[in-house]
Amino acid sequence: MADVILKGITKSFGDKRAVDAVDLHIHDGEFVVLLGPTGAGKTTTLRLIAGLEAPDAGTLHIGGRPMQGLAPASRDVAFVFQQYSLYPHLTVYENLAFPLRSPACRMDAATIDARVRQVAKMVRIDHKLENRSTRLSGGEMQRVAIGRALVRRPSIYLMDEPLSSLDAKLRAELRLELKRIQKELGATLLYVTHDQIEAMTMADRIGILSEGRLVQIGTPREIYTDPANLHVAARLGQPHINILPVGLLPGGEAPAGATRVGARTEHIAIARQDGGNARVDWIEHLGDQNHLHIKVGEHRLVTLADPDMPVVPGDGISVTLRNPLYFGHDGSRLGG
Ligand SMILES: Nc1ncnc2c1ncn2[C@@H]1O[C@H](COP(=O)(O)OP(=O)(O)O)[C@@H](O)[C@H]1O
Ligand SMILES: [Mg+2]
Repeated sequence: MADVILKGITKSFGDKRAVDAVDLHIHDGEFVVLLGPTGAGKTTTLRLIAGLEAPDAGTLHIGGRPMQGLAPASRDVAFVFQQYSLYPHLTVYENLAFPLRSPACRMDAATIDARVRQVAKMVRIDHKLENRSTRLSGGEMQRVAIGRALVRRPSIYLMDEPLSSLDAKLRAELRLELKRIQKELGATLLYVTHDQIEAMTMADRIGILSEGRLVQIGTPREIYTDPANLHVAARLGQPHINILPVGLLPGGEAPAGATRVGARTEHIAIARQDGGNARVDWIEHLGDQNHLHIKVGEHRLVTLADPDMPVVPGDGISVTLRNPLYFGHDGSRLGG
């Protein structure tokens, strides 16, 4: 495993700048997640590190070695693609062994066998080693795809939304397992996704990618509580942060220049009150909690509420802010 350092990495396709002057230092043994919507430049960033694309500008070092001009095979990275790309005619065992059979690995059969069985256990596919990969469920195939990267011990694992094609339950399971495996191996891992839950639960640090630019990087807690701007604030949090005009609601003290206030559930105090400053519009029941949709004049906001809270649509309530976030007219964060 190794440090991976990007400096000013830039890549355009025609006049589209896919990756824009990205500086990123991934530390040895760190799990970094790049979070961004479709088109943000996530896949291109991974492909640049892997050597599948060449940057227009900037430098990349892996383990202290400059990567300029080096072919993918010489870079010592392992890539897990969004779509599992297994060899359909091979068994699970052979799929896992394949990367170790390359002459460059110079590994003897006993070592390969031990490694394959160890990784198969890790990704919990050891009971299906003799199955053909076409006989597996989607979740099992993706475990094999991840396992096939893990059999190698590269400088860095690059993973491109590897769980996005799976159903919610499997995704939740595999994200726990991936985090456990990464810790166990002490692996350096760069994982990209558009899923905020994956980012929050797995990352040591989250980088927020927007239109090719790395807007902010920090621990999940830092990104959530201390977002640099409106864009970052809107990436994390369920329900979404409410963006409202300054002065609409009482409570909080807006710094000079603030035009909008960002309020998450923890910034909002509500109480049932006839003639209050707001009213309940509708209620989404989620079981353990409710999403309360509230109207303040013409403005709407959503907050979490205790399912036992005795309110129905149409009820008057009072809404007060406590220590919300403030933003200037350009969306940058103020105060805090
Ligand atoms: N090979 C390519 N040719 C032309 N445009 C591309 C190519 N690859 C990516 N792009 C463009 O670059 C931008 C970033 O793409 P991508 O890195 O795939 O984003 P993400 O993985 O975050 O969805 C998008 O606008 C995409 O259309
Ligand atoms: Mg992509």
